Amino acid sequence: MTTILAIDQGTSGTKAIVVDDAGGTVAIAEESIRPAYLPGGAVEQDPRELLASVLDAGRRAVAEAGRPVDCVALANQGETVLAWDPATGTPLTPAIVWQDRRAESVCAGLAGHAEDIARRTGLVLDPYFSAPKMAWLRRNLTREGVVTTTDTWLVHHLTGEFVTDAATASRSLLLDLDTADWDPALAGLFGLGDERLPRIVAGDEIVGTTRAFGGEVPVAGLIVDQQAALIAEGCLDAGSAKCTYGTGAFLLANTGTDPVRSTAGLTTSVAWRAAGQTPYCVDGQVYTVASAVRWLQDLGLLTAATDLDRLAAADAEGVLCVPAFAGLAAPWWAPEATASFTGMTLATRREHLVLAVLQGIAAQVAELTSLVAADLGRPLSRLRADGGLTNSAALMQAQADIAQIPVDIYPHAHATPLGAAALARCALDPALGLREAVGDWRPATVYEPRWSADRAEEYRTTWARAAAARATEGEHS
Ligand code: G3P
Repeated sequence: MTTILAIDQGTSGTKAIVVDDAGGTVAIAEESIRPAYLPGGAVEQDPRELLASVLDAGRRAVAEAGRPVDCVALANQGETVLAWDPATGTPLTPAIVWQDRRAESVCAGLAGHAEDIARRTGLVLDPYFSAPKMAWLRRNLTREGVVTTTDTWLVHHLTGEFVTDAATASRSLLLDLDTADWDPALAGLFGLGDERLPRIVAGDEIVGTTRAFGGEVPVAGLIVDQQAALIAEGCLDAGSAKCTYGTGAFLLANTGTDPVRSTAGLTTSVAWRAAGQTPYCVDGQVYTVASAVRWLQDLGLLTAATDLDRLAAADAEGVLCVPAFAGLAAPWWAPEATASFTGMTLATRREHLVLAVLQGIAAQVAELTSLVAADLGRPLSRLRADGGLTNSAALMQAQADIAQIPVDIYPHAHATPLGAAALARCALDPALGLREAVGDWRPATVYEPRWSADRAEEYRTTWARAAAARATEGEHS
């Protein structure tokens, strides 16, 4: 029996689960993290808090499991970067979170290279990705040490190695998508030509060993969180897609081993590297989902996310929200866009605002389903969904209504660590296929569309007009 400690180091928290061969969860421990949302679009985390959360959650999960683990797997939040001293591991800056918009100036300065960058990387020149943030950090915070994504730093603490996985690297704007290797020309463009970049590893590679959680065990199963959930949800064949509703929402569709560029305004990245194969995926992003819900809480409109369904009105009575609280991603790519509420009257109550936010999130994901369909050349027939906010029936029903497809809810609360655990299991047993390591699942709940096609189309047209207005407003501000 192989037991894996799989850690999901996310934006709003760290989750550690101990899983057995059958994918059964033996133990779970969570540590929440509150990013600092600062003026000027800054979003930061304390790297020491990230590391402490990984160690604490991991140790608590192992203690609760009451048995040693055979391997440690780690999923990471993707595009969050920091500078650190490679000799001591000491952080030299805060972690600049993927939602941080301050690197917009870096992107603006490279606007003339946007097409070339997109062709080489499959991504869009946007401050969301790692390289603009790395460049911004170098210009504004420190020139000392190395600057990497958080996974490299965390794994260095665990193993002493200096690595990142191919999927995380592909979120940087520094990776040549066709060779899936660092592109020195891109590093030069961002002024990062002299930086030491980590070795790119496969998800099913043992990268080193750690004693951080008990006896010495291998570390394997390194992967960026969204791609980990893609694996866990069994989207292993070209054409299959999932959406994870976490701090943000991320819709990913497997496109197979050809690094096809999106023609619909989405981005293409490495889905994972395992068994010598490098499949790709297209992805679309909603930057603020749990963050938007948290904003409702901060305003006192909601006490907890678990209150969403109790508080959301049955009908928003014409109130429409574009939840662009941290800019708009695919297909608008408008980092300066801000959120909007329209259609309010003196009869508008908080229940309408709450539902409008949920419908705005669902409408944005629905736009992404259409873009994915355009890239795949056929509509999505169903949407697989995971993440904390799939617990909101109001959100998931809105998703089915507005996207006009059934939504299948993944039955476990831990898709991301389960995906990392599946890769780790393949690392320990190279004869094991990823499909076998993932196993089958049946939806816990299925949400069928209740709105008529006409109603959904009318809503989407109105919402898309409002979103386009936010994107244009961002351009002129
Ligand atoms: O790209 C950022 C994303 O992967 C973060 O995921 O789960 O923290 O919303 P999450």
